[in-house]
Amino acid sequence: MKIPFFIQEFTDEMEESAIYALRNESFVGGESITKFEEEFAEYTGTKYAVSVSSGNSALQISLMALGISDKSKVITPTNSFIASANCIRMTNAEPILSDINTDDGGIDLSNITEKVNGIIPVHIYGNPCNFESVKSFAEEQNIPIVEDACQAHGALYKAKKVGSISDVGCFSFYPTKNMTVGGDGGMTTTNNEETALKIKSIRDNGRKTKNEFDKLGFTMRLNTVNAAIGRVQLKHLDEKNARRREIVSIYRKNLVEDCILPENKDGKSVYHQIVLKHEKRDEIRKELTDNEIGSAIYYEKPIHKQSIYEEYGYKLPNSEKFAKLILSLPSYPLLTNDQTLEICEHVNKIIS
Ligand SMILES: Cc1ncc(COP(=O)(O)O)c(C=O)c1O
Repeated sequence: MKIPFFIQEFTDEMEESAIYALRNESFVGGESITKFEEEFAEYTGTKYAVSVSSGNSALQISLMALGISDKSKVITPTNSFIASANCIRMTNAEPILSDINTDDGGIDLSNITEKVNGIIPVHIYGNPCNFESVKSFAEEQNIPIVEDACQAHGALYKAKKVGSISDVGCFSFYPTKNMTVGGDGGMTTTNNEETALKIKSIRDNGRKTKNEFDKLGFTMRLNTVNAAIGRVQLKHLDEKNARRREIVSIYRKNLVEDCILPENKDGKSVYHQIVLKHEKRDEIRKELTDNEIGSAIYYEKPIHKQSIYEEYGYKLPNSEKFAKLILSLPSYPLLTNDQTLEICEHVNKIIS
């Protein structure tokens, strides 16, 4: 590809911090873990941050820490990565998939009438969801909220960082995300000490003290070397998010139609994905591919259309319509202005 959809970046600073941690710290539970957690908590404006092995484990452990079990039902939107729903099933709870609004692809609760025990809104594409509606839904039903902020490190909702506005925030450091740890990794954020302690215990086999285990748990800790790399990435997150915002403004300014998904008017997106929505999506994609420009569709199949969810028989028409129209364009900070303009030219050729 002349312009790839994604570029994995590995800097000298990442390398030096990784080598330092490997040479000087315990491979598991080293100092870098504590420092990364403290710095991440400070960054999100929460009292606690507890690192884990992935975004998926962050979600799953959070639900367990909040008491979600085989008797529970938990809502999440169908337009997301499958982990947003799988985490519910992995706690043996029942997933209730909601449809989305076709403006920005975010959660829409207007057709949900069921009594549930929890909700996982997703800040999809790095854009904060309509959190007011989620909050009033949760307050009415008196249920906890776990934010899936796996794509939204640094995004703001009403001037507060996502991950700090609910019971627990969950982040993924998978390499394509706005920040990584040089491999898989995740983080949970919360203001509740008891929840933080439960998450710490569940990520470590349900440990209470060195030799006592008082609950079921996993080995889902983050490795020290990954925390060391994460600290470097966190330091540069704001500048990288700012570059993503520059890129989206170039797209918006130069595309002949206003077809980039809008930003939440009460928030600030970090543009994990820059997504266009257009009837000519397939033609646009072909034009980009023919010219060696990467693109992707998130998500081609909404969760309810995946084989392991079909048995539930959901009909969520907005998400199905939306999936046929969307296309993610390159959005990574290393993309140059000229490359962005070149992508605009090809898109314009089809839509004008
Ligand atoms: C919205 C969303 N939720 C959950 C996850 C799961 O994160 P991970 O891949 O780190 O398990 C991801 C990332 O892939 C995601 O994008």
